[in-house]
Amino acid sequence: MFDLIVKGGTLPDGRVADIAITGDRIVEVGRVQAEARRVIDATGDLVSPPLVDPHFHMDAVLSYGLPRINASGTLLEGISLWGELRETATVDEMVARALRYCDWAVSMGLLAIRTHVDTTPDHLRGVDAMLEVKRLVAPYLDLQLVAFPQDGLYRTRTGRENVIRALDKGVEIVGGIPHFERTMEEGAESLRDLARMAADRGLMWDVHCDETDDPLSRHVETMAREVTRHGLGRRAAGSHLTSMHSMDNYYVSKLIPLIAESGMTAIPNPLINITLQGRHDSFPKRRGLTRVKELQAAGVTVGWGQDCVLDPWYSLGTADMLDVAFMGLHVAQMTHPEEMARCFRMVTEDNARIMGLDDLGLRPGARASLMVLDAANAVEALRLRPDRLVVISNGRVVSEKARNDSRLTLPGRPATVRRRKDG
Ligand code: FE2
Repeated sequence: MFDLIVKGGTLPDGRVADIAITGDRIVEVGRVQAEARRVIDATGDLVSPPLVDPHFHMDAVLSYGLPRINASGTLLEGISLWGELRETATVDEMVARALRYCDWAVSMGLLAIRTHVDTTPDHLRGVDAMLEVKRLVAPYLDLQLVAFPQDGLYRTRTGRENVIRALDKGVEIVGGIPHFERTMEEGAESLRDLARMAADRGLMWDVHCDETDDPLSRHVETMAREVTRHGLGRRAAGSHLTSMHSMDNYYVSKLIPLIAESGMTAIPNPLINITLQGRHDSFPKRRGLTRVKELQAAGVTVGWGQDCVLDPWYSLGTADMLDVAFMGLHVAQMTHPEEMARCFRMVTEDNARIMGLDDLGLRPGARASLMVLDAANAVEALRLRPDRLVVISNGRVVSEKARNDSRLTLPGRPATVRRRKDG
């Protein structure tokens, strides 16, 4: 007798299988004959590992309009507005906004999030708030925290010290923002410093790296060198990497093999970078997304990150990683069926790999975290961004939703139900 069986669903690789769950583990995947306390019929539905977001800013989430909207729409005005908000927002306010967002996330099947926490202010209220949120959501959502010196490691008097204080408080990933340091040299030095910090403490490392349209912002080169030097491999991730969009092709032909050699991963954030980058251009306007397909072709694991929802940098967002993948697919022109399927894997399997969540997946022994989508397959899931009918986290059903079909009563036509999906 199993606790739960999800019956007859279509897996992202096209197999039709039952998934049997006991406790917080998947026990069987295939044709399951035994009984269960609860059986969920997923016939004709897509059953997938959960969505994962490897790049987010939960200390700022759902703060759109505070203290006022970002009128220019630029990264720099966003940073300036956030600089005001972080001085007035209380721990309780940040916890409440973040928990509300986590509820949205769970209902969307998003069960793991890596969030960068601004360590610039000496009060570290954002760090305290996010550590509390991590504790509260731990039973159902994996929240990883990055010590993120938003205003630069060396550009403020206590920038470096506060990163260390945050790590000592329990933040588990080292951050960085080399392109925002005062000079290229200080940016490179910050990377050497932070890589040592991550290596010495045995931590992961995730850097906001080259989030600029300047083709000469080449900090990713230094980052890859430090990842190789310390053997960090996929424990290190380069977030954004937007300057690669504008770099000279000859230089990139040297750079990508160095990134691949290091084993580091890459996290572009298409919703944000398609809106924030290229703002200094007239026409043509650059897209400001890193070279996704080219990195993947070299063997680099590339995920899609969400970055922001309703905050000083981004005025929309629904906590749906399928929206993120949908935008990424368009901007990176990943339109071949295999590329579209890859985009779905990027927001599930590849993002889990980037976050080191190796016990997620639809196989016996894996953690019983998955979702049932009202779509026939992974590509249709991207087309429809459909309802998450059931979300299961660590063996427990944490969200359920009725199908959202339309009832048509057209003059001269029999009443019909229009199902959104084709399958
Ligand atoms: Fe970010």
